[in-house]
Amino acid sequence: MIFKQHLVFILYSLCASVFKVAGTKSKAKGGQGQFPITQNVTVVEGGSANMTCRVDYNDNTSLQWSNPAQQTLFFGDKKALRDNRIELIRASSQELTIKIGDVSLSDDGLYTCSLFTMPVKTTKAFLTVLGVPSRPEITGFTKPAMEGDIITLTCSTLGSKPAANIRWFRNDKEVQGSKELNATGKSFTVRSSLQFQVDKGEDGVAYTCSVEHVSLSNLYTTTEVLEVHYAPRLEISKPQIDPLEGQYFKLECVSIGNPIPEPVLWSKDGGELPDIERMIVEGRELTITTLNKTDNGTYRCEASNHLGTSTAEYKLFVYAKDFPGPTTDPNALGQHGPDHALIGGVVAVVVFITLCLIIVLGRYLARHKGTYLTHEAKGAEDAPDADTAIINAEGNHVHAEEKKEYFI
Ligand SMILES: *[C@@H]1O[C@H](CO)[C@@H](O)[C@H](O)[C@H]1NC(C)=O
Ligand SMILES: *[C@@H]1O[C@H](CO)[C@@H](O)[C@H](O)[C@H]1NC(C)=O
Ligand SMILES: *[C@@H]1O[C@H](CO)[C@@H](O)[C@H](O)[C@H]1NC(C)=O
Ligand SMILES: *[C@@H]1O[C@H](CO)[C@@H](O)[C@H](O)[C@H]1NC(C)=O
Ligand SMILES: *[C@@H]1O[C@H](CO)[C@@H](O)[C@H](O)[C@H]1NC(C)=O
Ligand SMILES: *[C@@H]1O[C@H](CO)[C@@H](O)[C@H](O)[C@H]1NC(C)=O
Repeated sequence: MIFKQHLVFILYSLCASVFKVAGTKSKAKGGQGQFPITQNVTVVEGGSANMTCRVDYNDNTSLQWSNPAQQTLFFGDKKALRDNRIELIRASSQELTIKIGDVSLSDDGLYTCSLFTMPVKTTKAFLTVLGVPSRPEITGFTKPAMEGDIITLTCSTLGSKPAANIRWFRNDKEVQGSKELNATGKSFTVRSSLQFQVDKGEDGVAYTCSVEHVSLSNLYTTTEVLEVHYAPRLEISKPQIDPLEGQYFKLECVSIGNPIPEPVLWSKDGGELPDIERMIVEGRELTITTLNKTDNGTYRCEASNHLGTSTAEYKLFVYAKDFPGPTTDPNALGQHGPDHALIGGVVAVVVFITLCLIIVLGRYLARHKGTYLTHEAKGAEDAPDADTAIINAEGNHVHAEEKKEYFI
């Protein structure tokens, strides 16, 4: 019984190995055992793609390419679909290569190569078509923008596949925008927006939108420069000299604003300039050729553009020629105040340090009196004896005390 089972097993094994050999032989001989070999292809839309299908061993069995819609393109060297963008490159028993020209996004998809053995062996290959993004466009620019406006700049690019990446730069510094994707057919519309309130600092700022995509070797960029209109701001530049009677005197009304506010109007104490002869207005400057005490008063300059009006004032106090120096000029307070304080401070520090030195020196000399001579106690050096030396040193000390009093 056991022997019988053994025999059956041996027979079975023999049969199996014979079968196996036969199988490998047929595989080596024909194409029955193997699958065709293909490769994925990536192409930028408008370009051309070569689709290659190979078999290592083949006995005159035909190869075929079909498209994602299962339409046969080529069966061996025979063209099956009427599409003159598709042509044959090579057809042999081991290879079928076709070329698809002027590729569009609709060509994207899964292509099939079939080897017509029994049963049919198929291999799939992806044709990936990259959609080239359009040049970016920036919308939402109101030219000019008004100060205080809230504006939304939107940059958009169409037709990218895969979706393009949009980046924003404010004067070359990257800023973050909101992103929005919208699939249109096989490609994408990508939008990115920036929202902000404009102030006068935004005037002349360049906003750049850049588009990055695998199909582009260089970035696509578009730049817009903001123009912001804002109301004028005026300031009267402080004269460097103190206004003295008889002197030549000039005030300048410094204005910023967009559009530039023009002209600048000057007035004194709410009325017209009293003396046209001596008071000359040239653009933003008011010149008083010879100051007179009667010129005391409040001078005002005024300028406007379509967004508003601004004024600046200067209180003029004319000092008599022999006046030692102004102390109460209200306009000069901001300028000269700190200077006087600084000089005062420096003098105080110098006096303090000198006092400290004198005190330290005095105490030092007092402590070392008679023990040895110091450089400071110069009077003692050329003294004939110790007593005189001490007296001389003391005399020096007294001298120092006098100095201290002098400094106070
Ligand atoms: C071809 O592309 C598909 C999808 O991207 C992927 O799954 C497959 O592995 C690729 N085949 C080869 C041979 O690269
Ligand atoms: C496709 O094959 C043809 C012929 O071999 C060759 O001239 C062409 O450069 C190939 N095109 C691509 C995109 O590989
Ligand atoms: C393949 O076909 C050619 C002619 O069509 C023939 O001469 C050749 O013997 C065939 N080869 C095989 C292996 O069938
Ligand atoms: C996608 O585009 C359509 C048509 O332009 C538009 O109506 C829709 O709002 C968009 N959707 C998104 C999420 O942007
Ligand atoms: C100042 O003006 C008054 C009146 O206009 C005139 O009499 C006087 O001479 C002037 N003084 C100087 C220093 O110009
Ligand atoms: C002008 O101002 C100076 C400084 O305050 C003052 O001394 C002088 O009297 C003023 N003159 C007139 C005419 O108000």
